[in-house]
Amino acid sequence: MDTVGVIGAGQMGAGIAQVSAQAGYRVLLSDMNLARAEAGKAGIAKQLDRAVTKEKITAEARDAALALIEPVESVAAMGPAFLVIEAATEREEIKRAIFAEVGKVLSQDAVLASNTSSIPITRLAQAAPDAGRFVGVHFFNPVPVMGLIELIRGLATSDATVATVEAYAVRLGKQVVRANDAPGFIVNRVLMPMLNEACFALGEGVATIRDIDLACQLGLNHPMGPLTLADFIGLDTCLEITRVLFEGTGDPKFRPAPVLVKYVEAGWFGRKTGRGFYDYSGPEPVPTR
Ligand code: 3HC
Repeated sequence: MDTVGVIGAGQMGAGIAQVSAQAGYRVLLSDMNLARAEAGKAGIAKQLDRAVTKEKITAEARDAALALIEPVESVAAMGPAFLVIEAATEREEIKRAIFAEVGKVLSQDAVLASNTSSIPITRLAQAAPDAGRFVGVHFFNPVPVMGLIELIRGLATSDATVATVEAYAVRLGKQVVRANDAPGFIVNRVLMPMLNEACFALGEGVATIRDIDLACQLGLNHPMGPLTLADFIGLDTCLEITRVLFEGTGDPKFRPAPVLVKYVEAGWFGRKTGRGFYDYSGPEPVPTR
């Protein structure tokens, strides 16, 4: 059976494991320890239960997907996988350490992919066992809902590696776009300046949080306003990617907005910390200014 390894059972890793299992892949799911991997699987079970309640999938399909997901103790269990996707914390040294570990057990022709949203693939490939079999595979949050995968080729990525990941993405029912290894790839290159600009607009007193969001949501027909979306992604992540764009291009148009920097310094990262541009402690998010 086709086995996929997913490293990281947080929001992105769990989403990737879920859609892989729903596409019929056997999934080995790892995190810092078995308990975390199991918690990731429990979260997937909840998502699938919700989909059954909404009659989007059958109870049999839920059970079949769950049966395909095996939480494992560590990356040492990833040996049987033809494709291993790393979706760990967005810190280069963590990813490098993971690649060194998993490199010890990967089979000769297995592909190692990173879900990084901002770290250059060519640079990360230096920590992989084989740069030719290393590639960027960028999913979007929430993974089960978003129809896109960005496939990012490092300088050394082979055609066979691209073909392997493309076939996997197609089996997941996602559309694939190919991007070169440039800062922010495609989506974040375009998205982050918009979110950052919304932060500038807020800082300069152009409008309130509510009005900036409502203006863009209804005026542009976006599902979420930019400040809501920034909270959803995580303000720390938005700042990190904006810095990568700024430093990677040297172009001042990408400089981070002071408001974004301040919120991150305050530990207000958005939904995941309960506060960002909105306060999430009540039943509905409330704008903080
Ligand atoms: N898992 C599975 N399904 C989910 C879900 C999740 N986590 N969250 C929402 N959904 C489903 C719901 O079940 C619902 O399905 P239905 O219409 O078939 O019943 C549908 O999505 C709509 O959800 P809701 O009615 O609860 O809420 P919304 O209509 O507000 O939609 C949203 C929520 C799908 C998140 C929508 O607001 C949206 O698309 N927002 C923009 C998301 C976005 O831009 N993501 C990309 C971020 S950038 C990124 O990820 C890159 C990174 O590098 C930064």
